[in-house]
Amino acid sequence: MTGNSNDRRKYGLIGHPLKHSLSPYIHDHIMRKCGIKGSYKLLDIPPDEFDDQVLEVTECLDGYNITIPYKERIIPYLNKLEGHAGKYSTVNTVIEAKGFSSDIEALLQSEIPYKGNNILILGAGGAARAVLAAALLSGCRSAGVWSRRTEQSAGLIEEFRRLHPNAIIFQEDTINTDTGSTNLYSCDKALYDVIVNATPAGMWPECGIPPVSRELILNSVYVYDTIYNPLATRLVLCARSYGIRAESGLDMLVRQAVVSQKIWDPKADLSLFSPLKLQQRVKYMMFNLFPIKIVLTGFMGCGKTVTGKALASVLRIPFTDLDEVIIERTGMTITDFFAENGEETFRDIESENLKEVMRKEGSIVIATGGGTLMRDQNVETVRSNRGFIFFLDAEPEISIKRTENDTLRPLLKNRTSEEIRELYSQRLPAYIRASDHVIDSSGSVTDSVNRIKAALGLSDALHT
Ligand code: S3P
Repeated sequence: MTGNSNDRRKYGLIGHPLKHSLSPYIHDHIMRKCGIKGSYKLLDIPPDEFDDQVLEVTECLDGYNITIPYKERIIPYLNKLEGHAGKYSTVNTVIEAKGFSSDIEALLQSEIPYKGNNILILGAGGAARAVLAAALLSGCRSAGVWSRRTEQSAGLIEEFRRLHPNAIIFQEDTINTDTGSTNLYSCDKALYDVIVNATPAGMWPECGIPPVSRELILNSVYVYDTIYNPLATRLVLCARSYGIRAESGLDMLVRQAVVSQKIWDPKADLSLFSPLKLQQRVKYMMFNLFPIKIVLTGFMGCGKTVTGKALASVLRIPFTDLDEVIIERTGMTITDFFAENGEETFRDIESENLKEVMRKEGSIVIATGGGTLMRDQNVETVRSNRGFIFFLDAEPEISIKRTENDTLRPLLKNRTSEEIRELYSQRLPAYIRASDHVIDSSGSVTDSVNRIKAALGLSDALHT
């Protein structure tokens, strides 16, 4: 790497895929605030072209970061490894053919409670290496490593056992990863205090499901996802639903970016920018940069529409009410439609319209009808289109009160309170199964909005 002679510094990120990356925004912000003249670009190299392209791509850069899947693969192209990067063979920051791990630095600074705890690490790639290193350096009690690629995790464990002969590190192979589309979470027996996801499972744009069961999450005390996009992965949402402390990788991303920038520009005064303010800005920007759908479900009267409208306005994204879409399309009220065509036809129309709404571009808050997600196919439509399902659960008595004089809901017509309660209890398991997060919506709308914001990690965000 020769660097460039003019005073505008050139930085970049090597990895694949990179569509989800926030690094250009973060480094541009740091450089602007700290008076560093420079730019930061995404440099996506497909795996089969890595060896042919890497030297050429990095030649004109003053410094660069490395992300999945190249944190180890870059090593033969470097002259020297510094600090933790040398010991643990993982590199995410390079300057003048010297490799560093600002990931490990950031993980050591993070609030993950490694000390004295049993840690489950999901994954065996570069990020998992960094997490395992930070866990051992911080005095964890034991570390179980799980990976779909068992040979890779076995190799990682063997290597780390040599580096830390007294540590308890083992291959976790009891986790059942049979996560079929309707059986979203499998069932495991092993219990861990801390779960760290260091796989790409759950990352935008797919936003898939985590490879661990709800039971395992429920029995932990802290969950950390190295993924920062989406803002809250399904893993993080699930943990927060159970009241378990969970963090997304945004904090680590910003911390490692600061360490990287310091390596590249040692004279810059990085105290001129606030990592917290940067995080707060980025969180709201993400709804525009990386669209997701926030889907509200729950029984009639749980507050889906009012909460959805208020939430959308706070997040500054559009709101859609599925029932309203259907009323507009059919030109009939839901009650008339039910009376004329029956419930089954209504459900078919509902499924079709849900598909259309979910496929629209951009972030959106969607209030579904109380029965929409009773169909597994509709849950699948939501999940496969970056939809995150929030179940608004109000006490049935409150729902009954809220819908007391309702004439627009056909399913409430001629039903006694007893029967409404019965319908709620029939549906409850399906709501729970479908949802990524449950909130109690028995209180005020503001209360519900704040609960959803907290689940998304937005509760302390400045709205700038
Ligand atoms: C229904 C709920 C209604 C509407 C239709 C059927 C249900 O929406 O879709 O009356 O099956 O629970 P709300 O939940 O918004 O009332």
